[in-house]
Amino acid sequence: MSGLKIVGGRALCGRIHVQGAKNSVLPILAASLLSGGETVIHNCPALSDVDAAIDILRHLGCRAEFTQGTAYVDSSTMTRCDIPDELMRRMRSSVIFLGAILARAGEAKLSMPGGCELGPRPIDLHLLAMERLGAELETRGGNLLLRSHGLRGGRIDLSIPSVGATENAMIAASGAQGETLITNAAREPEIGDLGRYLRALGVKIRGEGTSTVSVEGGGFAPCCQHTIIPDRIAAATFIAAAAASGGDLTLTGVAGDHMRAVLDAFSRMGVEIRECGDTMRVLSRGKLRSPGTVTTGPYPGFPTDAQPPLMAACLGAEGISVFVETVFQSRFRHVPELRRMGADIKVDGRVAIAQGPGRLHGARVEAPDLRGGAALMVAALAAEGESIITQMRHIDRGYEKIADLLRSVGAEAERID
Ligand code: EPZ
Repeated sequence: MSGLKIVGGRALCGRIHVQGAKNSVLPILAASLLSGGETVIHNCPALSDVDAAIDILRHLGCRAEFTQGTAYVDSSTMTRCDIPDELMRRMRSSVIFLGAILARAGEAKLSMPGGCELGPRPIDLHLLAMERLGAELETRGGNLLLRSHGLRGGRIDLSIPSVGATENAMIAASGAQGETLITNAAREPEIGDLGRYLRALGVKIRGEGTSTVSVEGGGFAPCCQHTIIPDRIAAATFIAAAAASGGDLTLTGVAGDHMRAVLDAFSRMGVEIRECGDTMRVLSRGKLRSPGTVTTGPYPGFPTDAQPPLMAACLGAEGISVFVETVFQSRFRHVPELRRMGADIKVDGRVAIAQGPGRLHGARVEAPDLRGGAALMVAALAAEGESIITQMRHIDRGYEKIADLLRSVGAEAERID
């Protein structure tokens, strides 16, 4: 079991190049099945979730490689249409392959994705979208079997602007005959990035990144290249780390326009953020104050994934910070671990109330999930003394070479086994 040792109390100073977006590269790797041709993806982050997606593509018979920040897929050799249980369990978001496999092969067999650390993760909207495009669904002993005699365009009204369901609908519709209209679509920047990839693949798509997306299937280009957008949640995490440690960090390759709600919250805390193109300088001098109440929600609202690291940064801020989590049922699992470091946080259902400024002390803590682990890293950087964060497998899903990165900006951090 690998851990991360951090000795806190050192201000982070220096430059970080923000990695490509995990939540953009995963649906695009899935969509690379559509064309039966070649895809080259640049600015691809080195993450265990990307490794899992590459292994799924290989299991399906594709040639898939990842080296030096570039992923290469040749899906012409696809021979299978099933994702076995062990691969489904390795990455909860494997369901994102459903639409692509069904559109390419006419059938798809996946085991039901389990819940995850954030609570139940239903996929009813994903399945509704597939059925609206003409797929027939059968469940057999915990497995999902979808078949179609050629997907046909249709209207998909999403009751929730689900990111994954929007992505599966866009991808499957790209392989359907005729036009598909998706309403109440998710508007996250990662949806926009998927739309740009599909357009490069030859798909006629309009409105990606808005609530209404129209897709017209048709022929595909034999090969295409795409560069992944910056990871706005990784960027938010690094801003939280600078805020909590009282640092002066310059982030490069970042998209400020993808994170307005996040930047607004940190500005309310007194963090100075100077943007210039795709560079952002983050200065945290002196006392921080609470951002007030932060309510998470679908984009362009405050992103649920940035709630844990922001909460950790608020522990050193003056005043009461209130977090209202509207997206996932149990997204406060980092709170008990933060309490072990001396945090004063109360949780009542979907509301967490943090009282600052508190003095955090190092402790041995366990990462409960990806972004909860990020919160523990932020808190450990501000805490007095040594912290050991275990269950690093969660953090390795979404943060590239995190110990090296933290050390590069002055943190005392090292991986331990
Ligand atoms: C994506 O998950 C992200 N994952 C999550 O990031 C992110 O937290 C989430 O969107 C919200 O922004 C990836 O992109 C790989 P949803 P997803 O479908 O698509 C309910 C991270 O840390 N729902 O938008 O699974 C669902 O229960 C991860 O990087 C249904 O009811 O999220 C939730 O309450 C964590 N039925 C809400 O919608 C469905 O069929 C939003 O979920 C699908 C979802």
